[in-house]
Amino acid sequence: MKKECVLVSGGAGYIGSHTAVELINAGYDVVIADNFSNSDMGAVEGVRRITGVDVPVVEVDCCDKSAFRRVFEQYEFDSVIHFAASKAVGESVADPLKYYGNNLTSFINVVSLMHEFGRHNIVFSSSATVYGEADTLPVTEQTPRKPATSPYGNTKQICEDILRDSVAAYDGLRGIALRYFNPIGAHPSALIGELPRGVPQNLVPYITQTAAGIRECLSIFGDDYPTPDGSCIRDYIDIVDLARAHVVAITRMVGGKCRKNYEIFNIGTGKGVSVFELVKTFERVNNLKLNYKVAPRRAGDVVAIWADTSLANKELGWHAERTLDQTLASAWAWEKHIRGIE
Ligand code: WQD
Repeated sequence: MKKECVLVSGGAGYIGSHTAVELINAGYDVVIADNFSNSDMGAVEGVRRITGVDVPVVEVDCCDKSAFRRVFEQYEFDSVIHFAASKAVGESVADPLKYYGNNLTSFINVVSLMHEFGRHNIVFSSSATVYGEADTLPVTEQTPRKPATSPYGNTKQICEDILRDSVAAYDGLRGIALRYFNPIGAHPSALIGELPRGVPQNLVPYITQTAAGIRECLSIFGDDYPTPDGSCIRDYIDIVDLARAHVVAITRMVGGKCRKNYEIFNIGTGKGVSVFELVKTFERVNNLKLNYKVAPRRAGDVVAIWADTSLANKELGWHAERTLDQTLASAWAWEKHIRGIE
């Protein structure tokens, strides 16, 4: 029997590469499309080594519609997982046109090419950022979205709306938006992981680079928030668990199990963890001391957010499985691997 094929745009990136592995492990054929603007072939080589499959890769910018069309002409996938996007919140404030340009153009191109070629299933990488500072916690998919506080967050909201309206208008198109909480960690093989360019903006890569001696000291942004220990609270989801959520979303669509043509699922652990807790857990599981200091609050941070994941648990049969200990051990194993430590 011919295998189902999935196009993974942004498949050389952090979440894309882990998802490619899980798709292949679940029996799907995968085609990776990436413009390598914030990724490199090392991740693809990692995917190939982990799976033993010579996964095809096309270097293409999804914003270039005629080049992207050739991918649709060449490969017979019925499903797309669209990761290709710019993702730095601060940069999006400094350069909003880059974010509206890249994230909206590539998404409009992918949906319109799917319509043109009669391809059916799309999973969109959305984000918990659409909830902003929520009035009630944990947040469910019904929790109202708040006005975005950055152009990056706004592109996530707009793409969700484009998807909702497109599946309503174009027969045969089905979409699932996965709202990720904070993805962290690396594949247990340590062959793929997060590789930020320049100074990391996110907490866990900053921690692992500090532990590796690349950064002198971690700044904890604020210890005077109205939380039990004064630091912000997030829902840190293991990257492999997150990758598996994409596989079950695709399988639901391919199997005709969707209740509606457009569905939204929170993908998190359901547990809130503070910055201090995360740092202490990292130190304990990896048996090291981290150089850190308390610094002023970072502009734009919400105080606390974590997910109600009951919808994904019930409808997708998906649960976060890896513990925070395992995830933070994997993050450090990956950092050591790429830096040649030990
Ligand atoms: C987590 C906590 C910081 C760095 C962002 C995006 C979101 C998604 C994931 C993806 C906060 C604190 C951080 C540091 C710190 N985007 N922190 N010192 O802001 O929850 O989410 O990344 O592509 O859309 O908004 O994640 O990892 O930056 O921060 O104290 O050096 O760690 O203040 O409380 P965030 P984060």
